[in-house]
Amino acid sequence: GMPSAVRIFEVGPRDGLQNESTVVDVQDKVAFIRRLRRAGLSAIEVTSFVHPRWVPQLADAEEVIAALAADDHDGVTMPVLVPNERGLDRARTAGVRHIGVFASATETFAQRNLNRSLDGQFDMIIPTVRAALSEGMDVRGYVSMCFGDPWEGAVPLSQVVDAGMRLLDAGISELSLGDTIGVGTPGHVTALLAAFADAGADLGRIALHFHDTYGQALSNVQAGLRAGVTTFDASAGGLGGCPYALSATGNLATEDLVWMLDGLGIRHGVDLGALVETSVWMASRLGRPAPSRVVAALDGG
Ligand code: HMG
Ligand code: MG
Repeated sequence: GMPSAVRIFEVGPRDGLQNESTVVDVQDKVAFIRRLRRAGLSAIEVTSFVHPRWVPQLADAEEVIAALAADDHDGVTMPVLVPNERGLDRARTAGVRHIGVFASATETFAQRNLNRSLDGQFDMIIPTVRAALSEGMDVRGYVSMCFGDPWEGAVPLSQVVDAGMRLLDAGISELSLGDTIGVGTPGHVTALLAAFADAGADLGRIALHFHDTYGQALSNVQAGLRAGVTTFDASAGGLGGCPYALSATGNLATEDLVWMLDGLGIRHGVDLGALVETSVWMASRLGRPAPSRVVAALDGG
């Protein structure tokens, strides 16, 4: 059966903005994050401590974290993405306690996104996980290209499970399976989750991260719900994409997810009206409408 409640993991300020060529200033990023918090989101990935040359949009990570430091976080977690120990150092210095590491399920994307081989990326990531855990930080892990890869095509389930289990075995609290380019379909989601269960993974620690390139994201969420997944990543307004993944477009829009969950009677804690206003405001900063269908339907409606 379906769960009665889910946790929405908001990635708009990070995955949503990282691909935007218009640089959003620190004040607007901070306003975006505060509005998301007021809209009821309880986990908001706020920025990345990656190399600033690789993702110029998020080169102001220290400033964003510093501006948020004095806020009353009110139980809201605000993790950041960290690729390596240098990123962990920066996050630690900024006072961050929740991080996310990210691996690729494919050779080509490991090279393009992390400048490492499929195997070699773990020599960078696993020591980062261990160091963060030894300091009592919470560590989430992502695997990208879990369904298809723009250069390699379909990705074997066993390759995804292998990458994911390496992160789970290193002690991450949650594994987010990313459909980076949005090619997945529900049967594939079901098969991938079954493969993780067969490998001994606790599905309670698995989250799903969909991009809506082919319009399959909500159907894929339903497949996840049926398999017992209760954490879903989404991006306000449907912003997003990865600058290093050919044909990666917007993330599943948080508003679209909320609309479907409301219809299913599944609790999520988000105020849809406040969220739509936030996405409309951010769209005005970026100079074009939010990709979300629900935002389009409700804005001015
Ligand atoms: P590299 O060039 O191999 O780095 O890049 P390196 O380890 O050789 O270091 C080179 C220099 O960079 C050194 O400086 C380091 O100190 C510096 P130097 O000694 O030459 O002066 N450096 C750093 N500086 C600041 N912050 C750092 C850092 N690390 C090294 N963290 C690296 C390797 C991982 C750094 C690079 O490939 C990188 O930053 N990649 C990030 C790419 C990225 O952010 N992609 C988007 C996020 S993933 C995603 O979107 C997918 C997801 O949404 C899920 C899904 O949809 O699938 C999560
Ligand atoms: Mg993503």
